[in-house]
Amino acid sequence: MANYKLIIFISAILIAQWANIFAQQAGNTNAIYSGLAWYDQNGKVVSAHGANIVMKNGKFYLFGEVHSDTSNAFAGFNCYSSKDLYNWKFESMALPVQKNGKLGPNRVGERVKVMKNPSSGDFVMFMHVDTLGYKDQFVGYATAKKITGPYQFKGPLLFNGKPIKKWDMGTFQDHDGTGYLLTHGGMIHQLSTDYKSIIAETNPTIATGFESPTLFRKNDTYYFIGSHLTSWEKNDNYYFTAKSLSGPWTARGLLAPKDKLTWNSQSTFVLKIEGTKDTTFMFMGDRWSFPKQHSAATYVWQPITFTGDSISIPQYLNAWTVNLNTGAANTIRLNHKILLPNNKQISYSGNWKSSTIDSIPIIRSNDPKAFLSFKFNGKQIGLYAYLLPDNGYAKVEILNNKGEVVVKNIIDLYSKSPMSQLAFLSPILNKSEYQLIVTVTGERPNWSDKRKTLYGSTGNNITIAKLIIL
Ligand code: GAL
Repeated sequence: MANYKLIIFISAILIAQWANIFAQQAGNTNAIYSGLAWYDQNGKVVSAHGANIVMKNGKFYLFGEVHSDTSNAFAGFNCYSSKDLYNWKFESMALPVQKNGKLGPNRVGERVKVMKNPSSGDFVMFMHVDTLGYKDQFVGYATAKKITGPYQFKGPLLFNGKPIKKWDMGTFQDHDGTGYLLTHGGMIHQLSTDYKSIIAETNPTIATGFESPTLFRKNDTYYFIGSHLTSWEKNDNYYFTAKSLSGPWTARGLLAPKDKLTWNSQSTFVLKIEGTKDTTFMFMGDRWSFPKQHSAATYVWQPITFTGDSISIPQYLNAWTVNLNTGAANTIRLNHKILLPNNKQISYSGNWKSSTIDSIPIIRSNDPKAFLSFKFNGKQIGLYAYLLPDNGYAKVEILNNKGEVVVKNIIDLYSKSPMSQLAFLSPILNKSEYQLIVTVTGERPNWSDKRKTLYGSTGNNITIAKLIIL
């Protein structure tokens, strides 16, 4: 009898946990949302930074760096899949931390890129390998028979028997299937037919810095995007164009409006989405957030606008869709109820100050005990913040009507360039009563690079512009 009760008790706990997990409806995201956490089919934050996307049999496979909130050490490369670019399914840790060696414990592994080799059919993965202090960099590679892995780490990619001692890297596959390795400074190296070594230097350095090299082709023009060298801090990314990969490359200026810091992101890849009527080129950037890179670093994916052969991201889209049949990108309006900070239904605890920025009403606090609380009946809630240079991390929690936490995340409200943006959007929940709690954490993104230059926020404020209920 006692055993029987114990089984019922354990089952009840399991059912409660199961119900909690399924308070979230995975698979219902209807757009590409930049600058906020995405959730996979298990309700876990999508961790795939410095990423690229490979298409296979009508599915998109996203590869990216796994991060933690406590250390910069290599934590593996994840693989997710999606049929629509909105909902991401965790597939595998395609390359885990190795037992020892150059991608073993306490090493750096970044900017993972995967390409399918046309001659062997194998998948080849490339990455920046380094020490934690960024003093032993080279480009490494790994191979797999299946796109989701497991990938076997093979060590450095060699050119004339020598490793490529560069840090930031990217890849590009041309229309004829030839593969190229891109390294910071704008160097382009041609890969061998099997992609497992380098056979030629296609293009020499074109600019100092020019990190996060990202290359794509539209018709007969090649576009080469890169960033300045500012560690995890975002800067105004710029680009070159050429008719041939070996140049000459023409400097074309900034990708996004000046001082917007590429909408607070750093380039990593451009995905071509070709449809029956249109082709969308999707810029993929990282909004890094050191040290909380797992919880709070996000993705900035935006459609690129073409004017002749000039490219730009003239405005930041919080949410947009891409029709995979026609290839056309569209902005969407979020159908929601808006609550401004002075709404009586929102309660505030601790010290908060109301004001306006650019006539947008905001409320702000850096009191480490302060939080706001709001009860709602609905299935999704979002939060617009005013990102500012003295903002820090906020903790966002959603509690169900039993007081159990069903969603919890840390969000980064810092940006060196002030901008009002959607900074949190919950997963879609079962329609019910919930409570949103947003707390000042007293922490902020800040760090120093290997030259001891200080970067990041100057304060721990959180600055809220409005809540939205969907
Ligand atoms: C950036 C680089 C990132 C990472 C970071 C470390 O410049 O693009 O991939 O290496 O520096 O500070």
